[in-house]
Amino acid sequence: MGGRRAGSGGSRANAGVLKERANMSFMLVVMFFAVFGLIVLTEIFLIDERRGVSVGGTGVLGGHRSGHRLPAAPDRPDYGEVGAEDYAGLKGSFDEHVGLLVRGEDGGQKTAIHPDPRGLPSLPPSLEARLPQLDQNLKVTHAEWLPVTNTRFKFFVYSAYFDDRVSGAGSPAAAKSLGVVRVISATKTRGPERVWCRLWYRQQNGANVTASVTVAAKVKVIRENWNLKYSACFVICPLPKESPTADKVPEAVSVVARLRAAPTNRILVQNRLESRTNDKEALAVCVKPLHYYYNRLHRLLGATHVTLYNDTVGAAAGCALKYYESKDLVTVLPWHHLDMISQREIRTEGLFAALNDCLYRSMYKYEYVALVDLDEYIIPRHNDTIIDLLRWMGNRINIKSTGAFSFQNAFFYLQWADDPFVVTSRTPTEAGLITLRKTRRRTKLHPHKQRSKYICKPQDVVEAGNHFVWEFIPGHGTLNVPSDAAILHHYRVCEFGGDDCIKTQSTVDRTAYKYKDRLAASVDRTWTELRAECSLPELDPVPVLTPRIKVSPLGKSVEVEVEEEEVEVEVEEEEEKEDDKEEEEDHNTSSRIDTLADESRMSLRRRR
Ligand SMILES: *[C@@H]1O[C@H](CO)[C@@H](O)[C@H](O)[C@H]1NC(C)=O
Ligand SMILES: *[C@@H]1O[C@H](CO)[C@@H](O)[C@H](O)[C@H]1NC(C)=O
Ligand SMILES: *[C@@H]1O[C@H](CO)[C@@H](O)[C@H](O)[C@H]1NC(C)=O
Ligand SMILES: *[C@@H]1O[C@H](CO)[C@@H](O)[C@H](O)[C@H]1NC(C)=O
Repeated sequence: MGGRRAGSGGSRANAGVLKERANMSFMLVVMFFAVFGLIVLTEIFLIDERRGVSVGGTGVLGGHRSGHRLPAAPDRPDYGEVGAEDYAGLKGSFDEHVGLLVRGEDGGQKTAIHPDPRGLPSLPPSLEARLPQLDQNLKVTHAEWLPVTNTRFKFFVYSAYFDDRVSGAGSPAAAKSLGVVRVISATKTRGPERVWCRLWYRQQNGANVTASVTVAAKVKVIRENWNLKYSACFVICPLPKESPTADKVPEAVSVVARLRAAPTNRILVQNRLESRTNDKEALAVCVKPLHYYYNRLHRLLGATHVTLYNDTVGAAAGCALKYYESKDLVTVLPWHHLDMISQREIRTEGLFAALNDCLYRSMYKYEYVALVDLDEYIIPRHNDTIIDLLRWMGNRINIKSTGAFSFQNAFFYLQWADDPFVVTSRTPTEAGLITLRKTRRRTKLHPHKQRSKYICKPQDVVEAGNHFVWEFIPGHGTLNVPSDAAILHHYRVCEFGGDDCIKTQSTVDRTAYKYKDRLAASVDRTWTELRAECSLPELDPVPVLTPRIKVSPLGKSVEVEVEEEEVEVEVEEEEEKEDDKEEEEDHNTSSRIDTLADESRMSLRRRR
């Protein structure tokens, strides 16, 4: 600070002047801190809107603030990705001076420093009382992208879950608390803005007011952000030990950037203790947002339960989905209004927000959750169902600490010729089933974690990724399922475009044929039922045997196969580049994907 100059120069002779100057510079420092603290304080507590609408007597302060912006607030991110620049600047001073002013002390004494209200378990009741009340007309949502207003960067919230498994917040205060409310959100990857959680508790006497507690939120960016500007994230609200009502867990939460601004979102807190069942179903499937026109969705076979996110779904597919929804086999959740550009600003429609939303949504309803795409099926080789396979493995090895089972990826390129058995199909629906039509796959499987998919016990997982689990509840891990037990069948076109991929070494794999009859019958029934209602397109007729296929499969064993010696072209760099392009090309394979015939559906049906 400028005052330091007082100590140097030629004024050594006059100790009195020196002392005076030192005092003055001390006063300047104090004043600077006071003004700075005031600015910070107004920023946090008094200024309502960025528009500068002044509230009550704070208009003068509001004027001071015009044109001023706080440097990026110091955050405490969890992960290494957040660069050092995010810590720069205000660290320390911000907390201290807010503390001073909140306590109404006139500053100057370093010993009088009080904690930042962000460090408190919750805002003191005197401050809470001055914050806007909840507008009872504000809609309570449980799955809808809504903006957090007054932020400098885009900030959206989707859903909220009570989580009492670990203190996800990591701070000692939270560790002793009741747990956290996790809000599935999307915002800036680096240096996300500070936000607050306004927790709304139900009044037990039925009064039409909602008691509130406000806590500082912690923004935890979901690790798979691909270095894009925005990421899916968790906004973590540590619950205070003292609840203002008999309910320990709030009914809803609003995420706000400015405390004095009226909340614009009111999200239902799910996974409350009373909503959890002891009787979980076995397996659910989560599918990332559908963001293509899915009109040639010929048959969508009900799985045990499938959760999908509706971004852009074509009419016929939407109709079929509604049918499955009415049978409670499918949940379609809206995925609109996430105003971030896919791939340029955020990874694939906020895929990781969807995965984690589905993870938490399923947590107390299903024992296992498979996080897959519509063109992927986990097919056990020897067992009939995934649940049988998991049980069988559970009997042979200790899977107590297994939180996830990983399955290696096998591409079944759609450019490879149809299986000759297709000509034996009894119905056009059967002939159209992709899992029966495409039986040639790449011999070489991808290693685990590369394009692999997994089935997890959602209760053991904190943060789900696309190909593997990022974070487990401590003491849990992934089991790599050997490829002779089960693999991931992935039906798609060449991942790098063109047709070259089909030159790689391939194998015929008819494992899916064990589901042939059940699958065909079930799909045919549904197709017939929905054809008129959903104006489903005409199906291609069952192909007839063409002279091109030399060996007739009729009446022969499964061994009948065209023995083409194919040149193995193994491009090594492939693996590295692969992930970059991954989801992009997946999107438009959709028009060729015919079924969501996960055998998991069979699993439940058989168990009942
Ligand atoms: C509570 O307030 C809302 C909005 O003002 C109103 O629509 C509702 O009827 C009220 N409910 C009760 C029980 O008073
Ligand atoms: C998907 O969203 C669109 C647009 O909001 C809506 O019209 C359609 O009914 C939704 N489809 C399903 C299956 O929910
Ligand atoms: C699952 O597969 C294993 C290995 O072939 C077999 O021993 C076991 O009996 C199967 N279990 C069921 C329920 O099919
Ligand atoms: C994907 O398919 C849709 C509908 O057929 C089309 O409008 C869109 O341009 C395609 N996108 C790409 C990247 O090919």
